[in-house]
Amino acid sequence: MTPPRSRSFAASSPQGAKQNLGRPGVLLEKFVSMGEADLPAVTAAEQRIHRFPWTLGNFHDSLLAGHEAWLQRESGELLAFAVMMGAVDESHLLNISVVPERQRSGLGRALLEFLCDQARQGGMVRMLLEVRAANQNAIAFYQHFAFVEIGRRRGYYPDSTGREDAIVMSKKL
Ligand SMILES: CC(C)(COP(=O)(O)OP(=O)(O)OC[C@H]1O[C@@H](n2cnc3c(N)ncnc32)[C@H](O)[C@@H]1OP(=O)(O)O)[C@@H](O)C(=O)NCCC(=O)NCCS
Repeated sequence: MTPPRSRSFAASSPQGAKQNLGRPGVLLEKFVSMGEADLPAVTAAEQRIHRFPWTLGNFHDSLLAGHEAWLQRESGELLAFAVMMGAVDESHLLNISVVPERQRSGLGRALLEFLCDQARQGGMVRMLLEVRAANQNAIAFYQHFAFVEIGRRRGYYPDSTGREDAIVMSKKL
């Protein structure tokens, strides 16, 4: 995923959220808009989830730029969050993250479906994202939801030994 670089987009939705079940018998809290007050918890979770995490400043810049940012909690505990940016009629998924202990339990699915609904309601016709070429789990997740590879950006991400390619994926909404 890619931290924000531009402040020129404003696609935030004033809409509230909707309820969903992440796993059988567990009632999760609704998706809510991410605000400045959430950033310490979001940044702490981000550091547990990603090898190259966004900083608090990256999230702050995203909010300032008007990107749509959502999160989900259970009994106050942060479980998942996402950031997306609208550009004309395309939505760019900048970050989607589920805490490690709750991955592979349907939370990513619920969040991605919610984001796609939000984007459609905002008039978006396509969702785009970049993913590290080595992040096979995320690539499998996106493929499961009909994202297809449309390109590759050479050396797009830093990694421990130099640079790593980004795979660009797209899905029709
Ligand atoms: C990628 C991520 C958002 C997916 O969320 P999740 O809650 O773990 O995924 P879900 O349980 O909703 O999975 C939905 C479907 O996606 C596919 N999928 C998800 N994770 C997968 C994996 N590790 N390997 C293969 N397929 C996977 C499966 O088809 C799965 O359905 P199934 O469980 O019925 O087989 C989450 O694992 C995560 O935060 N990973 C670390 C951060 C990251 O890499 N984010 C994306 C950066 S581009």
